[in-house]
Amino acid sequence: MSEQSSALKAAPNSGRREPGSSPTAQATDDGFVRIVDVVKKFGETTAVRGVNLSVKKGELFALLGSSGCGKSTLLRMLAGLETVTEGQILIDGEDLAKMPPYNRPVNMMFQSYALFPHMSVESNVAYGLKQEGVKGGELKDRVHNALSLVQMAQYAKRKPHQLSGGQQQRVALARSLVKRPKLLLLDEPMSALDKQIRQRTQIELVNILDSVGVTCIMVTHDQEEAMTMANRLAVMSEGQIVQLGTPHEVYEYPNSRFSAQFIGSTNLFDGNVVEDEPDHVFVESTELPVRLYVSHGITGPLGMPVTISVRPERIALTRKPPEGAYNWGRGRVTNIAYMGGYTLYHVTLDSGKVVVANLSSLAIGEIDSPTFDDEVYVRWSASAGVVLTS
Ligand SMILES: Nc1ncnc2c1ncn2[C@@H]1O[C@H](COP(=O)(O)OP(=O)(O)O)[C@@H](O)[C@H]1O
Ligand SMILES: [Mg+2]
Repeated sequence: MSEQSSALKAAPNSGRREPGSSPTAQATDDGFVRIVDVVKKFGETTAVRGVNLSVKKGELFALLGSSGCGKSTLLRMLAGLETVTEGQILIDGEDLAKMPPYNRPVNMMFQSYALFPHMSVESNVAYGLKQEGVKGGELKDRVHNALSLVQMAQYAKRKPHQLSGGQQQRVALARSLVKRPKLLLLDEPMSALDKQIRQRTQIELVNILDSVGVTCIMVTHDQEEAMTMANRLAVMSEGQIVQLGTPHEVYEYPNSRFSAQFIGSTNLFDGNVVEDEPDHVFVESTELPVRLYVSHGITGPLGMPVTISVRPERIALTRKPPEGAYNWGRGRVTNIAYMGGYTLYHVTLDSGKVVVANLSSLAIGEIDSPTFDDEVYVRWSASAGVVLTS
């Protein structure tokens, strides 16, 4: 796993990366949670296709992917709610399949929170503990501590319908944490909240989880949520992990067109390799009048088709033609979208290719900024691009 992260981090500068090298992590012995060659089939449907993953103790890990890619199925197997068709799941070195359900050190918080509507907040939180036989002063203390942790102690007597969505979510979290699980599983924990509350709750949730120190695996289809909350994340597609790394690694060094487009937005230029050295590569594209120059190499024959990804915030707009012999194009501004803190410029190049540049609105106010239909040049540096071979 750590080899995987450092390989990703080093990719743009340290030269060659094998095209098609496995993006899936090798489960290592140091993982607190180890998912080894796990497959899940539902009849004809294969929901999870050979996943290997290690999650470290205390880590907040996100499974990220679009609907139907197998995230919830993987989480449900971790919770012991589904059996694995093939492979193995180990938690703290113990095989999950061999643990009796009541003894599994795992707790899952559901998308709908699944609070009992007729019970008060404190009864909801106490429910699981009572079933374990906890009672008296200990029960009271643990319920109170869990509610204090999520800042809901003053609402202990209320019923769920008397709470806001964000408050219900915190009660559900308290109910999960009160059982002191070794592993907390969250399935789309923010999906019932509206956008403004969601962003605040993301930060609160990270703070609470950090203070408890519990290992947590969460599922989300929202890339911003995964980026904000997780220490590391796995991008999933069609039942497989296609990329694994820190939010920074996955954003800056996507390993495929899929990852580059799924995490954030990007400009993709298709072309062919015309020069390939350990520290740089030149690519010719019919979409640009000059070559693309990227300051890292790849492994492959000359002429091989590749795609260069350049993030919108890495693209500069100028009125004068750039002087260099690479990484620029000429076009016209065909759309300007003011987004508040930043502005998105769409520039349609002479080739017809549309390039999106993301400019800080603050900077735009200070320069002679281009407006609609102006002729402009887009350009970027050699370190801005990432070569994608798949
Ligand atoms: N109990 C089930 N029976 C049959 N198919 C299922 C079941 N649960 C999930 N699937 C299928 O497995 C795939 C992955 O589903 P899921 O894990 O829920 O995706 P996600 O959470 O990423 O949206 C989908 O094609 C879904 O229809
Ligand atoms: Mg799901």
